[in-house]
Amino acid sequence: MRILGIETSCDETGVAIYDSKLGVLINNIYSQISTHSKYGGVVPELAARSHNENIISLIKDALLKTNSSKNNINGIAYTAGPGLVGSLLVGASIAKSLAYAWNIPVITINHMEGHLLSPMLNNNKLSFPFLALLVSGKHTQLIRANNIGDYNLLGESLDDAVGEVFDKIAIALGLKYPGGLSLSMLADRGFSNKYTFPKPLINKPNLMFSFSGLKTSVINTIYSLSNINYQDKANIARSFEDTIIEILVSKCAKAIHTSKLKKLVIAGGVSANNKLRFHLHSMMSKKQGILFYPNKELCTDNGVMIAYAGLLHLRNGKYNNLETSINPNWQIYSINYN
Ligand code: KG4
Ligand code: ZN
Repeated sequence: MRILGIETSCDETGVAIYDSKLGVLINNIYSQISTHSKYGGVVPELAARSHNENIISLIKDALLKTNSSKNNINGIAYTAGPGLVGSLLVGASIAKSLAYAWNIPVITINHMEGHLLSPMLNNNKLSFPFLALLVSGKHTQLIRANNIGDYNLLGESLDDAVGEVFDKIAIALGLKYPGGLSLSMLADRGFSNKYTFPKPLINKPNLMFSFSGLKTSVINTIYSLSNINYQDKANIARSFEDTIIEILVSKCAKAIHTSKLKKLVIAGGVSANNKLRFHLHSMMSKKQGILFYPNKELCTDNGVMIAYAGLLHLRNGKYNNLETSINPNWQIYSINYN
């Protein structure tokens, strides 16, 4: 089976083709970072326009380079939510038009499910059930993954998402949007324990997160230093990163303990963070468990994860009719499998 995957939920236009025998045939991504970085965040109107301008050439290129056409594509999977309304509509319209013209099934995919399943692309030892920590620019969720399309929410952030906190602090430190990676690289140059930041909810027995107090405390510290130099910034970045990783590891450890599951997935943009991977890996090793994560290039938004999720759903007989639309607030735990 060969699936065309279309991802337009936010600021990356992703078009990919996944073949069940040959694997990833192409992963085309047009990143809009240069469009949005001067505004310090994604401007929805510009994002939708940019998807609209670029998507056709990405699709044409993907079909041409992989010798694919209506004759050998078996389905089109597109991100139907969560995400920005205008952006989602661009992907949905193209996907449905092509599916109509080619008379093949269209499969609506939940963006967070795409992230959650992405470690399966590079590791065939990962099987259900497992625990997943989803950490992106918009989400921080702990999920019990029972099967394809069957997910329970165990905990989530009451306020900011982890990626959002990285990005906001990065801006306060003078780094470019999206600043997760550059903040982490700056932290590598810092000394630990120079600053103490709050760890909201860390000692609560539940699996909820809260990061806005931590974010405010870090930003206030940055603005309180009158002649802040490079080393100060690196030290702050280090203490912040250590703190947020400690919170994430502690909640994952609790979830592993109570669920008795031995497999943990981390996915979403922040799962590219090396220190987060390292600390979660050591926590899981101590518990005789295994940590799974996607390849680096598949951590942030892409069409491959959408095509792959589409393949798994289509194999199970799930596809949608052409009247199906988008749902900007679609939650992973409310995927209607039937
Ligand atoms: O999943 P994603 O591409 O988009 C959303 O669905 O939101 O995640 C993007 C987020 C951004 O906040 C970005 O700063 C963060 O992932 N990110 C990182 C790293 N690489 C990307 N955060 C921390 N460390 C990284 N290495
Ligand atoms: Zn994402």
